[in-house]
Amino acid sequence: MQESQTLETPTPQDEDDRSAYEKAAEQEDIDPRCIPQTLEAAPPVGEEIPYPDYSDEDQKNWRFLFNRQMKMLPGRAGEAFLRGVEILDMTPDRIPALAELSKNMEAATGWKIARIPGLLHEKDFFNLLANRLFPSTDYLRGSDELDYTPAPDCFHDMFGHMPMLTQPAFADFYQLFGKAALNAEGADRPRLERLHWFTVEFGLIRQENGTRIFGAGILSSKNEVTHALSDEVTVEPFDPEVIVETDYDVWHLQDLLFALDSFEQLVEGFRSWTRSRGLLD
Ligand SMILES: [Fe+2]
Repeated sequence: MQESQTLETPTPQDEDDRSAYEKAAEQEDIDPRCIPQTLEAAPPVGEEIPYPDYSDEDQKNWRFLFNRQMKMLPGRAGEAFLRGVEILDMTPDRIPALAELSKNMEAATGWKIARIPGLLHEKDFFNLLANRLFPSTDYLRGSDELDYTPAPDCFHDMFGHMPMLTQPAFADFYQLFGKAALNAEGADRPRLERLHWFTVEFGLIRQENGTRIFGAGILSSKNEVTHALSDEVTVEPFDPEVIVETDYDVWHLQDLLFALDSFEQLVEGFRSWTRSRGLLD
């Protein structure tokens, strides 16, 4: 939003307090797929989700994306993520069925998958997370967007996000995140978005064999995955107090990332920050 518009149409809250969803919905030149939607009915969950009628081109594009990304993961992706890919039984052969991914995820951590139509309004999104339901699209980006798409799609949702949800500590953290976000008001909302960005989407973890990636935004992106561990990126230790005040730029490769020592540190650090803000008991 431009400043003049802000002055003419004041919002009830501080501009800085608007969530990313609200900012997106207010932009004029936005890709319609990036406008958050409100769910009108409960989305289908787990085995209720039918397998879409994917085209041959979709299947070919999945194979291409999966193989390209998997090739770049050795020495880059964290052990937890790689274990998750195996647990989910994702392969290049065919776009996975959400119903099958959900079954495998449920067996690992009790999380299930809800099929959603696109970017969700934040309350719907957080509400699903708080109930251990991961919102996922089931349509794949087109052939002209294989390197980058600004919109949600199932390669990002399935390949980027789902493996970590088979890992117990991370799975518990993400549910806590949903609960805390439902309670957040004012400046705590963008603070939680920053925390989401620097962990769920762009998180790193220090393993015995070096720093590795677990963030979905990096692991599902051709360019971020080679950039994230390069000398061009500054890596700071995970500290929720610092992260919640650190701005990020969604349009460029990230030059600052944060690394966890363990996923238990993520759970504990998040619990203590949210308690200090009165967002969780
Ligand atoms: Fe994401």
